[in-house]
Amino acid sequence: MKLRYFSHSAFQITTDSGQVLLIDPFLDNNPTSPVKSEEIEKTDFIILTHAHGDHIGDAFKIAERTNPTFIAVNELANYCAEKGFTAHNMHIGGAYNFSFGKVKFTIAHHGSQTPEGNYAGEPAGVLITADGKTIYHTGDTGLFYDMKLIGEMNSIDYMLLPIGDNFTMGIDDAVKAVEFVNPKVAIPMHYNTWPPIEADPNDFKSKVNKLGYESIVMNYGEVIEL
Ligand code: NI
Ligand code: MN
Repeated sequence: MKLRYFSHSAFQITTDSGQVLLIDPFLDNNPTSPVKSEEIEKTDFIILTHAHGDHIGDAFKIAERTNPTFIAVNELANYCAEKGFTAHNMHIGGAYNFSFGKVKFTIAHHGSQTPEGNYAGEPAGVLITADGKTIYHTGDTGLFYDMKLIGEMNSIDYMLLPIGDNFTMGIDDAVKAVEFVNPKVAIPMHYNTWPPIEADPNDFKSKVNKLGYESIVMNYGEVIEL
């Protein structure tokens, strides 16, 4: 399985069997992404954690060309379906086995509103298990104690979590989140896209390293083999 980081909270997963998943593909208006939506040639699934513009991003533009299935909580999946796309409705606490692997939605403490200003259901985090690895993309969230339970009940290989502060956890809360979840590797996201969320990912990395956790600060556009 390969993990590609575009910047912000946008990732691409390519499974060993060649299925392509996008998570929160915010590319074109994202000042830090070196990859733009027109460069995405294939997408089988798009997972959205919530409906804010910096997460829905270019999902619909990409979907028009590549015909993926959207995976999101019920209200947001309905919104994707209303726009004419294929969607698989789920909700927090529920898991489902897709052709590439398993998806389970978790809580996230945040908001969720469509670009038109409508309620889009609860924001979420997502656990993705494929090719024997489990990735926890927390979505946008503040720190919450139930992360401990998520860590207890799942063996998390890669935790992708925000460190940018202002809208989400900042570095110190994110370090505590890593302690709660106990992942093999922590990967920071949702930082340095704009001035209000400036944060030093290497500061995060050194703080989690000090506690004995591995962390990878992915470069924008970088692909790593999981
Ligand atoms: Ni948000
Ligand atoms: Mn966001």
